[in-house]
Amino acid sequence: MVAKIINGLKISKKIQKKIKNEINIRKKNGLLIPGLAVILIGKNNSSKIYVKNKKIACKKVGFLSKIFKLSENISENKVINILKKLNKNKLIHGILVQLPLPKKFNTLKILKNISYKKDVDGFHPINIGLLCQKNPNLRSCTPLGIIQLLKKIKIKIKGINALIIGASNIVGRPMMLELLLAGCTTTIAHRFTKNLKKHIKNADLIIIAIGKPNFLHGKWIKKGAIIIDVGINRLKNGKIVGDVDFYSNYIKASYITPVPGGVGPMTVTSLLQNTLYACKKYNDLKK
Ligand code: GUN
Repeated sequence: MVAKIINGLKISKKIQKKIKNEINIRKKNGLLIPGLAVILIGKNNSSKIYVKNKKIACKKVGFLSKIFKLSENISENKVINILKKLNKNKLIHGILVQLPLPKKFNTLKILKNISYKKDVDGFHPINIGLLCQKNPNLRSCTPLGIIQLLKKIKIKIKGINALIIGASNIVGRPMMLELLLAGCTTTIAHRFTKNLKKHIKNADLIIIAIGKPNFLHGKWIKKGAIIIDVGINRLKNGKIVGDVDFYSNYIKASYITPVPGGVGPMTVTSLLQNTLYACKKYNDLKK
């Protein structure tokens, strides 16, 4: 048996096509067009690529997008002032600060200054809190994208043992809340976890986001497990690989996401969905 490959790119394209159709209808009806502001601070090469991809995706579906490329010498207060202006801007319905920020910035302080109504990353304490209370509003993009992939393969995940490897604010922690909401028995492993292999062996679903190329070997997993790879690592030879050793997992798992073309495209698609959601929920009635 080999795993079925979850084609995130194909699923993503389908969802984006639906969004584009909806925007065309909104245009015809004179309704607001969703607007996304993205703030990029500093020179992180991966971040530059991600921001460019977000801009392209917005254009494709007919959203307005505004990219702010800021020097890492900018002060925290200036960034916060930009956010405050964007919070009031009627053409902007979603605001995203690309992470990670250069070290000198207090990331949580900056993120708190985005209105929770425009927090299309789902990182604001109010949105994380709502998800924690089983009352989701704007939800973090990568975890939401993964939940949508799991829905697409139509596997019932209620009650299964899910293991998340990596406890970051961007992926691991909101993912834990999403899986709890979906009814999984959820474990989150991190750098202090003892006996990781025992947890891996016990898991029906593994979601890994640790930034270590080819880390998860197939010999550790349960036969038939679902493997979701969030990692995007560039090797010295230029090749992009995930956190999962693909082949050894492919021949043992039931489902697996490829890198590239798995989770990555869904993150951008969730961002578009969130921006449309914020535009409709908080702005349509005001027009
Ligand atoms: N960097 C990597 N993933 C993300 C994400 O989902 N949102 C933001 N803001 N930065 C990121």
